[in-house]
Amino acid sequence: MTKNENVILSAKDLVVEFDVRDRVLTAIRSVSLDLVEGEVLAIVGESGSGKSVLTKTFTGMLEENGRISSGSINYRGQELTAINKHEEWEEIRGAKIATIFQDPMTSLNPLVTIGRQITEVIVKHQGKSASEAKEMAINYMERVGIPDAKKRFNEYPFQYSGGMRQRIVIAIALACRPDVLICDEPTTALDVTIQAQILDLLKELQKEYNFTTIFITHDLGVVASIADKVAVMYAGEVIEFGTVEDIFYDPRHPYTWSLLSSLPQLANANGELFSIPGTPPSLFTPVVGDAFAPRSEFAMQIDFEEEPPVFHVTESHWAKTWLLHPDAPQAEKPTVIQDLHSKIKAKMSVEEIS
Ligand SMILES: Nc1ncnc2c1ncn2[C@@H]1O[C@H](COP(=O)(O)OP(=O)(O)O)[C@@H](O)[C@H]1O
Ligand SMILES: [Mg+2]
Repeated sequence: MTKNENVILSAKDLVVEFDVRDRVLTAIRSVSLDLVEGEVLAIVGESGSGKSVLTKTFTGMLEENGRISSGSINYRGQELTAINKHEEWEEIRGAKIATIFQDPMTSLNPLVTIGRQITEVIVKHQGKSASEAKEMAINYMERVGIPDAKKRFNEYPFQYSGGMRQRIVIAIALACRPDVLICDEPTTALDVTIQAQILDLLKELQKEYNFTTIFITHDLGVVASIADKVAVMYAGEVIEFGTVEDIFYDPRHPYTWSLLSSLPQLANANGELFSIPGTPPSLFTPVVGDAFAPRSEFAMQIDFEEEPPVFHVTESHWAKTWLLHPDAPQAEKPTVIQDLHSKIKAKMSVEEIS
């Protein structure tokens, strides 16, 4: 971290467990992570790696069978793990830390008009009168790109398309004027063109409203164009962390190599795409060594025996892999992800990472 970075949310040694019948599943196995004010932090990793669970702890949204069993979360000086009252979470959720989920219908009430849902939030969070709020709601709708906003104000969610519903969810989040916006795979359920539009919208809004963003995705391709920092998660841990440049052009963990190798832009001439062999480990039993070792062609004996510590590559970049130990043999990243810059530049717009 460089000196002028202002950390506003900091998780330390966070462990999250769930009771599943008579067993305990450890979804987050000691995560430490800093969120810097004004930045976009992307959290990437395969499905089940703990991206959603981790960020749910920031708003007290873990399901009933889950708990933070150790660690801390400091948000602007407040210890979030100490909160035990519903009302205290109500003060944080939405107003300070808002979340946009993959499925907009988890956030919308099907029985209430779109206009009323936005207006209620404005009245609650910005203390406006009903008529002021209505005018503002229409402005927000226009701002997120709803055509004919005045007329559509009185419509119900079912009258909106998936992409338009997600825009409304974004409008509602904006109306809360959050400090931190968590986007949990906000475009995964949408088709590719709409995905790109929503991403562009989020980028514009972030510049305009200057909130800090956590952007969760299993698609590294999206990350290049929107993130400042990237946390790569595997089996409930952050295994590599760095700037977008670090992660794309100087990745160090074999799991990050595999994720990058499976970028759709890197399919071969026959359209074949690399897919990571094997499956992640069970989270019901303790992980020994490097959790990725059984799937990694770069695994060494020690990877099956001892957990790798954090090795710093630069001040801003670290990875938990024994390959970074001074005594480790030299390992080259796979050829398919060498010279990634020109390869993906040819196929997608990544002007941000030049
Ligand atoms: N309420 C729950 N009860 C039991 N296990 C859960 C619960 N929520 C999540 N998990 C498990 O925690 C792990 C991480 O899940 P999640 O954070 O949703 O992954 P993702 O990275 O896809 O967002 C998965 O193994 C998932 O099955
Ligand atoms: Mg998820």
